[in-house]
Amino acid sequence: MKRIGVLTSGGDAPGMNAAIRAVARKAIQDGMEVYGIRNGYAGLVNGEIFKMSAKDVSGKLQFGGTFLYSARYPEFKEEAGQRKGIEQLKKFGIEGLVVIGGDGSFRGAAALTKLGYPCIGIPGTIDNDVPGTDFTIGFDTAINTVVQAIDNIRDTAGSHKRVMIVEVMGRDAGDIALWTGLASGAEEIVIPEHDFDYEVLQDHIIQKFENGKRHAIVVLAEGVMSANELMQHMTRLTEQYDTRYVVLGHMQRGGKPTVRDRVLAARFGVFAVELLQKGIGGKCVAIVNDQIVTHPFEDIFSGLKHQPKLELYDINAMIQ
Ligand code: ADP
Ligand code: F6P
Repeated sequence: MKRIGVLTSGGDAPGMNAAIRAVARKAIQDGMEVYGIRNGYAGLVNGEIFKMSAKDVSGKLQFGGTFLYSARYPEFKEEAGQRKGIEQLKKFGIEGLVVIGGDGSFRGAAALTKLGYPCIGIPGTIDNDVPGTDFTIGFDTAINTVVQAIDNIRDTAGSHKRVMIVEVMGRDAGDIALWTGLASGAEEIVIPEHDFDYEVLQDHIIQKFENGKRHAIVVLAEGVMSANELMQHMTRLTEQYDTRYVVLGHMQRGGKPTVRDRVLAARFGVFAVELLQKGIGGKCVAIVNDQIVTHPFEDIFSGLKHQPKLELYDINAMIQ
């Protein structure tokens, strides 16, 4: 394979730039040509494709976002959309593609592979919800950003003797809430993968205030319900104690990638190119017990399941 493409798709994540750089630099050093595709699958279909030099990727790895931009493009779920994408790949003589995104993006990559264009997926999303990998690019940066925010929220909660409900992202997965809840010493963590009871939750917090605590932090994953909704369900608590909620929102998706995310991006990027060089497509790269491995896309869509590290939930409860 002499000419490959790279695109980012779905929600952006810090570290995507570092992954694009790794793909481009590895391929160019090995004598291949690399084409950047802007705006995900939408840009592929529209021919937003340009040849990248090693210089095009310099000065980018330390920034969040993705300089290739990203898009959600539902039309790519249809074969007609995929065939239009293939026409563009043919036009530019691109023989294989690296897709950086979540498992939705991998479905597009799997479809292109089936249609004869080998694709490799690199898991990039702050949600950490891609099956078969311990970590996705962007998760580490997002949890560090969230912990910093919760530390700030705790300062003011303590001054005013308040309960603060902090809603974090994650789509249907509780990973962000789980890791940041433990790391920030949250009194309660509410995630989709663990049951909870409004009465027990309120009892816990009331008990802590009665024992002299001046603040309580509840970290809530957006996949359970909104922070406002949770607050409405806890009238026994809110009648006794001043309660506020904070929705952290998209600030969780930006910022300079952490060392962990940059290193993961470099490892994934190089490995992805090596697979294409061997003519391998139809797989995504993953990290399991600190080893870079691959999974066929089919296993990501059925078979492998994502499960957050629930022992962290128990550990948090043990050290309250
Ligand atoms: P993520 O990749 O972060 O999971 P999405 O689920 O929003 O994000 O998917 C990103 C993009 O991937 C979609 O906008 C679409 O272009 C493409 N995609 C998603 N699902 C499919 C599918 N079933 N077939 C082909 N392409 C898909
Ligand atoms: O998948 C990343 C993510 O940030 C989720 O955590 C969140 O639910 C969603 O994307 C938000 O999407 P949008 O940026 O389209 O509002």
